Amino acid sequence: MRAATEDILLALAENAGRDFSSAQSLPPAIYHDAGIYNLELERIFRHEWICVGRCAEIPEPGDYVCRDIIDSPVFAIRQRDQSVKAFANICAHRAARLLTESGNTSRISCPYHSWTYETDGQLIGAPFMQDTPGFSVGAHRLRELACDSWQGFIYVNLNPGAQSLSARLKGLSEIVGDFRMQDYVPVFSRTEVWETNWKCLVENFMDAYHIHRVHKDSFGKHGSSEAQTELFDGEDCYSYHFVQEDEAPKSVYAHPDNTWLSGDNRNRTYLINVFPSHTIQLQPDMLWYLSILPLGTECVEIRWAVSIPAEILDAAEGRDKCVEEVMNLLHQVNSEDRPVVESVCRTTRSPEAARGPLSALEKNVWQFGRYLARILPAH
Ligand code: FES
Ligand SMILES: [Fe+2]
Repeated sequence: MRAATEDILLALAENAGRDFSSAQSLPPAIYHDAGIYNLELERIFRHEWICVGRCAEIPEPGDYVCRDIIDSPVFAIRQRDQSVKAFANICAHRAARLLTESGNTSRISCPYHSWTYETDGQLIGAPFMQDTPGFSVGAHRLRELACDSWQGFIYVNLNPGAQSLSARLKGLSEIVGDFRMQDYVPVFSRTEVWETNWKCLVENFMDAYHIHRVHKDSFGKHGSSEAQTELFDGEDCYSYHFVQEDEAPKSVYAHPDNTWLSGDNRNRTYLINVFPSHTIQLQPDMLWYLSILPLGTECVEIRWAVSIPAEILDAAEGRDKCVEEVMNLLHQVNSEDRPVVESVCRTTRSPEAARGPLSALEKNVWQFGRYLARILPAH
């Protein structure tokens, strides 16, 4: 390992061992160092649970969604028994990509030489292979991957020995389970590429400090959210904070037909990061999530999507108008965040970039640094 990479790991460990009160921002080189990036690919993205979408986005047998987890194309597909399985999106013949984006199919047919698979991954047809001695379709299938769901999200893990996701997120389920996120109705999804480091974007999403400035015309419009924000210790697998919006019930609210959510949760926004890079904004009236994957040290692919509870859509005067209002707000929020996170990625290249102290509202940023300090070094 190069000395620069070792120095970053040491700085990370030193910061993680401090009290939060004296903690600092991450070492700027962590966003650009090639050695760190390779460790992230191997120890994080090939070993952690990655969100590829929501169960409600693939409701029917044969519905599928594709995602490339770093260099591994994968897809999740609904089975006839309603379970969801995930496979490497790579043909067992000569490795062509099988599916793209999302859709529905009753069989998976390779676009190269037409090998055809059942939705459970079993090869069922291979034209002109009868002259190949010993060939049998029954002997070939797609490589199945670890797949799990949590609160209606689908996750895939490239590590076959991964620990169960539900066990890892048990504590978080107790905190947000009453929202019944799994029932929210998908209304929008998009994949974008931004020029930033994946960690800049994760930190930004979990940073409660920038709202008053960057989002003064959107999320911060209804007054100071800082005083209403509470940050928590979280666990090894996630971090979160919430904003209690009791002053502006119109901005975040549970519909009267929502009888299952009680107390402060009816006007509360949760900001969650399921480590490493699945960020969630959960409200009684909206669910916004980002699944962030690196495409290099200074480039990310973001799959982001929005869902709205059925009772809100049903009660709206016009469903399209209701969705449009939410989307206008979120497009605005993205356009506010994007220049900032792209700029921070560029300026942290500079040798003059230094580390600074964190505000109390950046506790989740520090927790993310502690996660990196735990997972990146060799064990
Ligand atoms: S690579 Fe798929 S059938 Fe040849
Ligand atoms: Fe933001």
